[in-house]
Parts: sequence; structure tokens; C-alpha cells
Amino acid sequence: MTNLDHLIQDFASSKYPQLVRWSEFLTEICRRKTTESEHAQLWNKWIKILEDFPDPQFGSLDASGETICIAAKGDQFPVETIDEIRDKLLELCPWRIGPWNFFGVDLQTEWDSSKKWNRFSDSVYFDDARVLDVGCNNGYFGWKAIDAGAQSVVGCDPFLLYNFQHEIFRRYSAEKHRHHILPTTDMEIPSDLAAFDVAMSLGVLIHRRSPIDHLMRLQESLRKRGQLVLETMAIDSEKADVLVPEDRYMKMRGIWFVPTIGMLRRWLDRVGFVDVKVVDVSVTDSSEQRRTDFMPFESLADFLDPEVPEKTVEGYAAPVRVAFVAVKGR
Ligand SMILES: C[S@@+](CC[C@H](N)C(=O)[O-])C[C@H]1O[C@@H](n2cnc3c(N)ncnc32)[C@H](O)[C@@H]1O
Repeated sequence: MTNLDHLIQDFASSKYPQLVRWSEFLTEICRRKTTESEHAQLWNKWIKILEDFPDPQFGSLDASGETICIAAKGDQFPVETIDEIRDKLLELCPWRIGPWNFFGVDLQTEWDSSKKWNRFSDSVYFDDARVLDVGCNNGYFGWKAIDAGAQSVVGCDPFLLYNFQHEIFRRYSAEKHRHHILPTTDMEIPSDLAAFDVAMSLGVLIHRRSPIDHLMRLQESLRKRGQLVLETMAIDSEKADVLVPEDRYMKMRGIWFVPTIGMLRRWLDRVGFVDVKVVDVSVTDSSEQRRTDFMPFESLADFLDPEVPEKTVEGYAAPVRVAFVAVKGR
């Protein structure tokens, strides 16, 4: 089970009363998720894999480049061969966000997430910030935020495999006490935290059945004048409108709303954000999202019409990705 002692101490001694309260039940939430959820047995199996990886004293994590590298320290190289490490990492597929290099293994993830990071990071004040990363997957963006000067990052992602992937890398970081991931959903973050300087929701909103509640919870997590980064698929139009697919969208189940950029702006205004700015609009291509050895399932090329790539396989308008930065105004 993830060691949350530092996070709990940090919250418990915080000036924000809601963080102090959250600290009182964090251990129990994580214990329950890693012992009672449907993936709990897998967690115990994965924990054993940690023993096959190099001891944390032999490695260090460097997030300054586009690939986050976990490399051997000095010339004390661990006993395992690269092929054995690679095989163990393959047991923990799918690897969605990265890229990573783990003791010489080039871990190519489905997403080259450095492209997303480069689109918004210069517009955010990470210096000494307390950051919340909702739907953080394996924590790639959290390490980038710490490298950019964040004081601490708390991520949340309900899928235990991604929590575990984070745990593998976290052990090698000199900053490990500053970056934790909780196995919770957006709605399990207490309302009215009013404590974070930056909240990031990257690639999550489109998957939420209730996008307004998602935005409200992000708004509530921020202190006054805190910054939101909202990055999502959207329809490229300034008209406030929303596409509700009949069934699947890009083969994904559970997509209820694909908003236009104009509708996202309106939602952000309505939930109380000010200084709402679009900092990037991009079309995803196969250099950013693709099938790899570490994510062997369908990816972008399978989701778009091969003849008309401006359409999804279902015949809907293909999305763009939009990144907003906004400020909590009240
Ligand atoms: C498309 S991925 C985006 C990952 C990463 N943030 C990025 O931008 O590349 C969506 C992530 O949200 C997580 N997720 C799904 N439902 C969630 C929820 N209710 N609350 C928080 N995270 C959720 C998934 O496990 C997944 O890691």
C-alpha cells in the first residue's frame, strides 16, 4: 500500500481546515480501495513485482526532459538485465501516458504527453504551488509540475493499475514526498477544499457523465485566485453547442457530451471562473497518440474514418484538443 505518511502530515499541519479534515480519513480510503475494490487482489500481485525491480537506492528520477528518466546512480548498476525489466513492465500494460525511460528500457506509452505539457505549462504559475491533478493516470504531469517548481502534487485516479505504475517510479525520486496519487474519483475529493493553487483536469471531462459537477468540484478545490487547467477533446466551434452521440464516439462508451469550445467557455463562466483563456487548440495525430508495445490495444488510427480523418468512425465531427487556463474568481 502506498505510504501516505508525508501527505497526511502535510495536510494535517496545513492552514486550510478542509485539508486537515481530509487528512483524517485518507488512510482509510486508500486501505479500502487497495484491499476491497475489484482490483485489490491484483494490487497484491503487483506489489511482488516491485521486488524484481532495482532497489530504490540504485536509481534516481529526472523529469527535466520530455522523457522522464529513472536511471542508475553512479556505476552501481542493478543486477537485473534490461530485458527482464522490460518484461516486467509489459506485465503492467496498458501504459497510457509518458514517455519514460526506466533503467534503459524505452517505455513508449500510447501518448507522447510532452506535447500536451508544452501546450499549457508556460501559462501556469507552478512556482511553489500546491497542485491537484484529477484523472492523473500514472502521474507524468505531476512530475513535470514538480520540475517546474511546484511545492507538491496530489493526483487522483480511481484505476489502481495507474496508481501502481506511479508507485514504481516514485520510489526512485528525491522528491517522492512531494508527489502522491490517491485511488479516488473526482467526486471523492471533498467539496469546498479551497486549498490548491493549481488544479489540472487533463483529458478527463469528456468521460464524465456530469461535466458541470466535475468543473464545480475543481472550482471548489482551488483557493481564491487559484488557476485551473482544463484540457479536453472538443468540437472546434465558438458557437455554444454540445454533441450528444447516439451511442459511441471514437468507439468510446460512456461519452455523453462533446462540447464545443464555445460551450466549454460558457460552462467555465457559469461555475465561477474568470480570465478564461484558450491557450491552445490542436489536432491530435499519430505522432502524439498511437498503439505501442506497451499499449497494444486500439488507438487513434482505429477511431477515425480512414478515408476522411476529419470524421470519427461513427461519422461525427472529429474532435480537436483544447487547453483552457482560468482563474477562480469567487
Ligand atoms: C484519458 S485519461 C487522461 C490521463 C491524463 N490526465 C492525460 O491527460 O493524458 C483519463 C484518466 O481519468 C481517469 N478517470 C476516469 N474516471 C475518473 C474519475 N471519475 N475521476 C478521476 N479520474 C478518472 C482514468 O483512469 C484515466 O487515467
